[in-house]
Amino acid sequence: MDLQWMLLLMVLVCSEAQDVTEVKAELGQNLTLTCSFNLTGIYWYMEVHHKLRAIIGRSYSPTSSTICSPDFESKYLISENRLVVKDVSAEDFRRYFCGRKISGSIVYGDTFRLVSGRKI
Ligand SMILES: *[C@@H]1O[C@H](CO)[C@@H](O)[C@H](O)[C@H]1NC(C)=O
Ligand SMILES: *[C@@H]1O[C@H](CO)[C@@H](O)[C@H](O)[C@H]1NC(C)=O
Repeated sequence: MDLQWMLLLMVLVCSEAQDVTEVKAELGQNLTLTCSFNLTGIYWYMEVHHKLRAIIGRSYSPTSSTICSPDFESKYLISENRLVVKDVSAEDFRRYFCGRKISGSIVYGDTFRLVSGRKI
């Protein structure tokens, strides 16, 4: 097992116990997730499948952010500590994670589980 993979596993194991915020969204809605890290410099991840996360992008400053993959640019918008999931579709019902980099490693903040349903 290489080191990177071991670190990834450790991160996943450690984050297992964290609280999950369930967020309801309707198809076609634009949904905003707000990370409780009240800052810019927030990294956003999505769960690809069980225990595998992909980075969506990050914010740098109140006016600057980047989306890591061209495929995600039409889907996600990152601003300060918020992630907007545009035009929610069935495949967007998954987990999302926010985190920030502290001395070189990602510390996860919140876990959101997007589920189908009417907003409360
Ligand atoms: C979602 O946001 C896009 C622009 O980012 C806008 O064109 C669209 O009308 C919005 N949809 C809803 C349902 O608010
Ligand atoms: C987050 O930052 C904003 C602007 O600096 C401030 O008004 C707000 O009270 C902060 N919220 C928390 C929970 O710290």
